[in-house]
Amino acid sequence: MIAREEGEQFLHVYKGDIERAIADLRRIATEKKQQISRPKRPISEEVVIRVSGLTKSYSVGKQQVSALGGVSVDIHKGEFVALTGVSGSGKSTLLQLIGGLDKPTSGTVEVYSQNLSKLSDRHVSEFRNRTIGFIFQFFYLQPFLKLRQNLEVAGIPLRTKPVDRRKKLESLAEVVGLADRLDHFPKELSGGQMQRAAIARALLNDPKILLADEPTGNLDSKNSAAIIELFEKIRDEFGTTIIIVTHDAAIAARADREIRLKDGVIA
Ligand SMILES: Nc1ncnc2c1ncn2[C@@H]1O[C@H](COP(=O)(O)OP(=O)(O)O)[C@@H](O)[C@H]1O
Ligand SMILES: [Mg+2]
Repeated sequence: MIAREEGEQFLHVYKGDIERAIADLRRIATEKKQQISRPKRPISEEVVIRVSGLTKSYSVGKQQVSALGGVSVDIHKGEFVALTGVSGSGKSTLLQLIGGLDKPTSGTVEVYSQNLSKLSDRHVSEFRNRTIGFIFQFFYLQPFLKLRQNLEVAGIPLRTKPVDRRKKLESLAEVVGLADRLDHFPKELSGGQMQRAAIARALLNDPKILLADEPTGNLDSKNSAAIIELFEKIRDEFGTTIIIVTHDAAIAARADREIRLKDGVIA
């Protein structure tokens, strides 16, 4: 009884302090949240990618290498996200799992509410071809095909009509500023042009999501800036959700949100 009275007295005396402390904690939490999301333009409420408790370990001989140690994050429709972190922090692994190129060790990736782990390999590829466009640091254009054919082959897996494919590739070549280069071979293009070609190819099937792994890693700053402007244009014109892995602080600063990985978890 005495203890309870003392307790109440204590609460009475310190009530103001406690309330102030709680208010301070709330304010700090809100500020921190704002710092993390840092919205520069209104972002849709719709979650298109939901990553929950994602882990990935690779077997190397008898050893297990942990690449992701439990990542959870929601990405919204039309959001432009920069995925950053030092080399080996798990960026490419996360991007590959989001794109269904590999399977997680545990946890889930849902893309447009579809749990990728629940799909068969064939259905994952179908889903990927319809929904996701990939862009890599090394452009992976076929050296023996002209730009026109390099773009066109991207439409083959979905069996789109050749005539539609041609129309589409020509309009995309306009979007990326390569309309006058369609009959050139990749070796006749500059690095920046090759990457723009790879972006056009990634857009051929109207993906809702673009995943780019260090797309400016091989480009000088002028060409990098042009590529980022192109991504922004794509997002604005097509409402595409874009995740871009980058080391470039200038790019990260232009994204709607930066997600930083450290040792396989969000820092
Ligand atoms: N196929 C693989 N086999 C074995 N280990 C891998 C493989 N891919 C990535 N790793 C390891 O997983 C960790 C994360 O790699 P990665 O996702 O490529 O990081 P980042 O893209 O940030 O450089 C690293 O320790 C890397 O060595
Ligand atoms: Mg990587």
